Amino acid sequence: MTSVTSAPSILPLTLDRVAYEVGGRRLVGVEWATIAKGRKTVVLGPNGAGKTLFLRLCHGLIKPSAGTIAFASGIRPAPQQHAMVFQKPVLLRRSVAANLHHALALAGLGYFERRRTSRLILNRFGLGDLADRPARVLSGGEQQRLAIARAVAVGPELLFLDEPVSGLDPSAMRQIEEMLVALHADGLTWVMTTHDLAQARRLADDILFFHAGRLLEAAPADRFFAEPATEEARAFLESRLFW
Ligand SMILES: Nc1ncnc2c1ncn2[C@@H]1O[C@H](COP(=O)(O)OP(=O)(O)O)[C@@H](O)[C@H]1O
Ligand SMILES: [Mg+2]
Repeated sequence: MTSVTSAPSILPLTLDRVAYEVGGRRLVGVEWATIAKGRKTVVLGPNGAGKTLFLRLCHGLIKPSAGTIAFASGIRPAPQQHAMVFQKPVLLRRSVAANLHHALALAGLGYFERRRTSRLILNRFGLGDLADRPARVLSGGEQQRLAIARAVAVGPELLFLDEPVSGLDPSAMRQIEEMLVALHADGLTWVMTTHDLAQARRLADDILFFHAGRLLEAAPADRFFAEPATEEARAFLESRLFW
């Protein structure tokens, strides 16, 4: 993979007294949170908890109404240092390979390097045989794997994923989880939203638990699951909290 690891680390990402409001209504409130380097962070909570908005704030797609969201001190990340994969993959109406070539061209890679890198990545994630297919005919799981492959192709240090497996069947879900574990082993730090408790248990190093727009708990996963600190988290873990 092309890498920007020679650049100084952009992590940790820190949020300090962040609020996001629309029409006077507070949709997200985060007193303090940090995304640490090398961790798999799962943003957990029921539908409508504010998970997607939190991710969009972190990635800089929306601006907080108050507070600060800052990467490692003094760092202004280059655009390719953090990437985001959306719940519904946004792919170009071109071939699988062309989707990767396009991303790599934007990152400044030359013709042969683009081809070499995209072949490596497609093969690595089981998409090699699909390289010449139109991206839009892929299955949902294949499209999401392509979206993730494209996001990591240019070597971001940090990847945000918004419910990347929602609506996928168990085997497609498992393939994506394996992909995320492998990418983490390679040094990628990622932050994923989910409302799926079992998935959070399988994947998380750290949990950020949201409810009704507020970050209620930030804890290592083993502690969060063993000793949730809030009644809302206890209720969620016992499936008593549905919204
Ligand atoms: N642009 C917006 N304007 C008003 N309300 C919004 C906007 N975007 C999201 N919301 C509301 O904010 C809450 C949190 O949304 P979201 O972050 O998408 O939740 P989650 O991803 O946890 O399901 C929801 O109640 C949603 O309806
Ligand atoms: Mg969401």
